[in-house]
Amino acid sequence: MDTFDALLARRSIRRYTREDVSPEAEQKLIEAAFAAPSGNNARPWHFVFVRNRETRAQLATMHEWTGMLDKAPLVVAVLGNADDNPWWIEDCAAAAENILVEATALGLGAVWCGMREDATEAVGCEAACCMVLGIPVGKWRVLALIGVGHPAAHKQPRTQLQPGKLSFERFGKRSR
Ligand SMILES: Cc1cc2nc3c(=O)[nH]c(=O)nc-3n(C[C@H](O)[C@H](O)[C@H](O)COP(=O)(O)O)c2cc1C
Repeated sequence: MDTFDALLARRSIRRYTREDVSPEAEQKLIEAAFAAPSGNNARPWHFVFVRNRETRAQLATMHEWTGMLDKAPLVVAVLGNADDNPWWIEDCAAAAENILVEATALGLGAVWCGMREDATEAVGCEAACCMVLGIPVGKWRVLALIGVGHPAAHKQPRTQLQPGKLSFERFGKRSR
C-alpha cells in the first residue's frame, strides 16, 4: 500500500477480531511513532504500549468514548511533557497520526481516543490514565489512547475533500 492509499484508507476502527497484534507489527508502530516531526526536534513524548487485559479494561473506562479499548488487543498511550514545550500537542498528534497510518498500512485497524481533559471535558481522565499506567504525577499530559487490532469492521477509504475549504494562491480563490 503506498502512502496516499494508506492515508485515505485510514478510518477509525472500533471493532476487532480476537487475533493479537504481532510483535513485528508492534515494533513497526513504535518506529512509526518515533519518526514523527517535532518542533525543535525536542520530541517531548512518551508512549506506553499496553497488552495487559486488565489494564486495557481499566483504560476502556476513561470516558464515554473509550469503551472499545478493552477489546483492542493493543492500546497505545501517547503522553506529552508540556513543561517548557509549547509544541507538545502538535508533536504528539503527529506521532499519533503516524501510528494510525502505519496500522492501516499493516492491515490493522485503529482508533484515536482523545484524552486531553480540557477537550474531552471528562474531569479527571488524564489523572486516571496516569494512575492506571503508573505515570509519575505532574509531569505528563495524556494526549490520546489509541486502540489497535485486526479489524472486525471494514470501512471504505474516502477522500473527504471539501472544495469550500480549499483556496489557490489567495483565500477564497476556488480554482487555479
Ligand atoms: C482528537 C481526536 C479525538 C478523538 N476521540 C475519539 C474518542 O474518544 N472515541 C472514538 O471512538 N473516536 C475518537 N476519535 C475518532 C473520530 O471520531 C474520527 O476520526 C472521526 O469520526 C472521523 O472518522 P474516521 O477516523 O473514520 O475518518 C477522535 C479523533 C481525534 C482526531
